[in-house]
Amino acid sequence: MTLAEFIAACDALEADAERDVASAGTLDEWTEVRNQLVGRKSGRLTQLMAYVPTLAPEERRAAGQAVNALKSAIDTLLDSRQAALTSVHSDGQPRDLTLPARRPWTGARHPTSIVIEDIVAIFRTLGFTVALGPEAEWDWYNFGALNFPPNHPALDMHDTLYLQGNDAALLRTHTSPVQIRTLQQYDPPVRILAPGNVYRHDMFDATHAPVFAQLEGMVVDEGVSFADLKATLAHFAKELFGDATKTRFIPSHFPFTEPSAQVEVSVDLKDGRGPRWIEIMGSGLIHPAVLEAVGIDSERYTGWAFGMGPGRIAMARYGITDIRLLYDSDVRFLRQFAG
Ligand code: DAH
Repeated sequence: MTLAEFIAACDALEADAERDVASAGTLDEWTEVRNQLVGRKSGRLTQLMAYVPTLAPEERRAAGQAVNALKSAIDTLLDSRQAALTSVHSDGQPRDLTLPARRPWTGARHPTSIVIEDIVAIFRTLGFTVALGPEAEWDWYNFGALNFPPNHPALDMHDTLYLQGNDAALLRTHTSPVQIRTLQQYDPPVRILAPGNVYRHDMFDATHAPVFAQLEGMVVDEGVSFADLKATLAHFAKELFGDATKTRFIPSHFPFTEPSAQVEVSVDLKDGRGPRWIEIMGSGLIHPAVLEAVGIDSERYTGWAFGMGPGRIAMARYGITDIRLLYDSDVRFLRQFAG
């Protein structure tokens, strides 16, 4: 080898070293690359260094400088790659610094919660505030004060769990007891919205769940009429489902309202079948017996109320066909509604 050839060999080895060291992905691979480069007998750098004394004396100085520079370049490459490979993760594995960073794990609001928040936002602009009540309730609040006569057939729909050791304490079957608790605490005028979980003796299937969310609304004031109920709920339906939404009121029965109505809205569920009527809530003028049960003069004050299922509204809005999906807490399902 001439001196020029020797220097060219040094340059070639540096290029190879850069490539090979960078491609070592594990400590084992790194060790192999190091042996190929600086192994004690057959390492490529070792052999180049051993060659220096065989050159002509006047060439040795330049050759020695070139090979020493190469050695320190290779040492630096090896050291920094080893450092990268051996910084150890808590699981004991070498950390691969070339991996993309893991994104922070974020959850998503539940579709039922999204609907509750949307409904609360609409009624907030109309002066309603949120009121909450206990899920374990006395039967007087759940039934008696709400004008359910004992043994009335309306009770059949409200079969529930009674708490051990006290047959007057139960898991509430609707959010309507919050009407009673609110009227005991505040004098009219009141306008409240009461979201919360309720319990019924229902088997879990595609359309029923033994625990589900309800959202109650109530207005009590002087001079409140069925016209207020209709206008407010029609406005609400447009706000929630869009301006084109129509509303209709179908006569119904609840012990705590008179008259009572089911509220239906025409909505396009975007399933290709066009707009159709879906029932979204029960409503009515508060029965005088309910106002009297909490000591309110029903000659002076009147009111109206409604109760709806935000879970069912979420199913209609998002095209969810099986209610059980709302209970699985599967993030792959929940993420679809994030935003
Ligand atoms: N509490 C009723 C139920 O769970 C729903 C309901 C109907 C609530 C009419 C109301 C109302 O406030 O006025 O079936």
